[in-house]
Amino acid sequence: MRRPIVAIDGPAGAGKSTVAKGVAERLGYLYIDTGAMYRAIALQVARAGILVSDQSAVVAHALKTDIILQTIDGEQHVFANGEDVSAAIRTPEATRASSPVSAIPGVRKRLVELQRRIASDGGVVMEGRDIGTVVFPDAEVKVFLTASAQERARRRVEQMKEMGVEADLEKTAEEMRERDLRDSSRATAPLVQAPDAVLVDTDGLTVEQVIEAIVAIHNRRTETGE
Ligand code: DC
Repeated sequence: MRRPIVAIDGPAGAGKSTVAKGVAERLGYLYIDTGAMYRAIALQVARAGILVSDQSAVVAHALKTDIILQTIDGEQHVFANGEDVSAAIRTPEATRASSPVSAIPGVRKRLVELQRRIASDGGVVMEGRDIGTVVFPDAEVKVFLTASAQERARRRVEQMKEMGVEADLEKTAEEMRERDLRDSSRATAPLVQAPDAVLVDTDGLTVEQVIEAIVAIHNRRTETGE
């Protein structure tokens, strides 16, 4: 029997990465950050000097880009054509470019295939925007993670600080709003809550409490099928 798939979707800064990583650790599952894949494609496209408006060139480049996720010392690393781009994909430029690149259907098709292949045996916690709606509509556990816009911007600034980058709270909040609007209003696989996903608002909850809640949902589903 295939082991369960835990799908965690939600807007930027909702805490998906930290929570998904923690849940995977607790369950002994593989953690997959699908945003890192879109970021890696966006980075390679930008480096090649391809304009995002040239959709066919973007897709052709995406098809030529070999993306591999690997866990090294407990951290997920992303490799693009053999190069570890884990740090390069987190710059503000790569972040900005990732949203329009991810709206291109041919890019999504390629990455969704890859995501399904990686998780074919189950036992995976996958986070993104369309995991419970498009990639794994039959996932055993679906969570839609969110938090207030203010809290999400604050967390993103904190995260950047840890990476040694000073970010302005207002500007970060504005960029996040723009990105969320674009991710939620695109034609292909927009960010929406799956009808059968459990909504978890993380405002006022600790990371540990959120992880605990998701592990409890997982255990209930797998033990009783509820
Ligand atoms: O989760 P993130 O911020 O690293 O994602 C970067 C961009 O990729 C984000 O703007 C939306 C897009 N994305 C997507 O469209 N589908 C996914 N499954 C994951 C990310």
